[in-house]
Amino acid sequence: MNPISNNISLKQYNTFGVEAKARYFASFSSEEELKELLTDPDYSNEQTIIMGGGSNILFTSDYEGLVLINQIKGIEILEDTQEFITIRVGAGENWDDLVEYCVNQGWGGLENLSYIPGSVGASPIQNIGAYGAEVKDTITMVHALNRENLIPLTYSNKDCLFDYRDSIFKNRLKGKRVITHVVFKLSKKPVFHLNYGNLKEKVQQKGSPTLQIIREAVIEIRKSKLPEPEEKGSAGSFFKNPVVTSKEFKKLRSTHPDMPSYPLPDNRYKIPAGWLIDQLGWKGHREGDAGVHSKQALVLVNHGKASGKEICRLSQRIRESVCNTFHIDLEYEVNIL
Ligand code: EPU
Repeated sequence: MNPISNNISLKQYNTFGVEAKARYFASFSSEEELKELLTDPDYSNEQTIIMGGGSNILFTSDYEGLVLINQIKGIEILEDTQEFITIRVGAGENWDDLVEYCVNQGWGGLENLSYIPGSVGASPIQNIGAYGAEVKDTITMVHALNRENLIPLTYSNKDCLFDYRDSIFKNRLKGKRVITHVVFKLSKKPVFHLNYGNLKEKVQQKGSPTLQIIREAVIEIRKSKLPEPEEKGSAGSFFKNPVVTSKEFKKLRSTHPDMPSYPLPDNRYKIPAGWLIDQLGWKGHREGDAGVHSKQALVLVNHGKASGKEICRLSQRIRESVCNTFHIDLEYEVNIL
């Protein structure tokens, strides 16, 4: 039977919950199935996108090509010592299910990244990060298929060129590789990272730190700031936090003395985009069903029936207003299609 269906709604496959149709649609649960789909002669001329959890994408129109959903599953132990465990995880595993599993096993490294929506395969693409941790600190290898010649390739941590919300898969190789598995090295004697914001305080309220307690604290903080996926569509932060030179930063600070910032090792400064947007009064703003989250100005939400175009238009207005006041060009974190 042909596994490819026609005209399928993508509403349940994108966390914004916007309506868009895929002209052709299929899922794959192994590298072999993926290869078969990519070489199917009936579809070889179609534009194709590979999706994971759909948590970093905004569809502004129907997709007139083939949408493939990565459902490669499995967690396999590659190495197990007294200090570390190395696991190879299928790209189609749900990210937070993996974090929960590792925390329950007593394997440290992913706990600060609890409750982030999306799939394991998407995690290296934008180097997901939260509460002082980035996934790059646990990834040792990424396995991917070259979409042109279907040759499987292996990328070491260094090859991935990880940076803040960035990797080679988001830049030079954008759309050119399909991540099939990710290898993580986790610690059996974890060191806790509690220095971000009020994380330490939250953890202390619950007792002395353990992986489980850190996970619970992170989930509580996220729930207090970010929309609950069952209640409102969103894709988390819509923009990246901008990075400016120290000269630009000094200029900004002279006119906005209370602007928060994080100094970076290379003498530049990261500025919370949420603060910039909040200062301009956008928090809680709503245009039809497209809106800015009332507790975190960096997050755009779909209150119900917003279209991707409406959310995109709102994001453009926000960008313009930030640019007019602060002379900063916000970069999208979300992929807009
Ligand atoms: N702020 C405001 N108003 C707002 C939002 C933020 O003034 O409406 C200011 C506050 O000063 C706050 C600071 O911005 O102290 C930072 O806010 P927050 O701790 O919420 O973090 P963020 O920089 O806005 C980043 C990530 C989030 C991640 C949090 C926690 C990016 C683009 N976003 O947000 O990631 O959860 O830090 O580590 O780097 C995501 O990528 O989807 C995401 C949610």
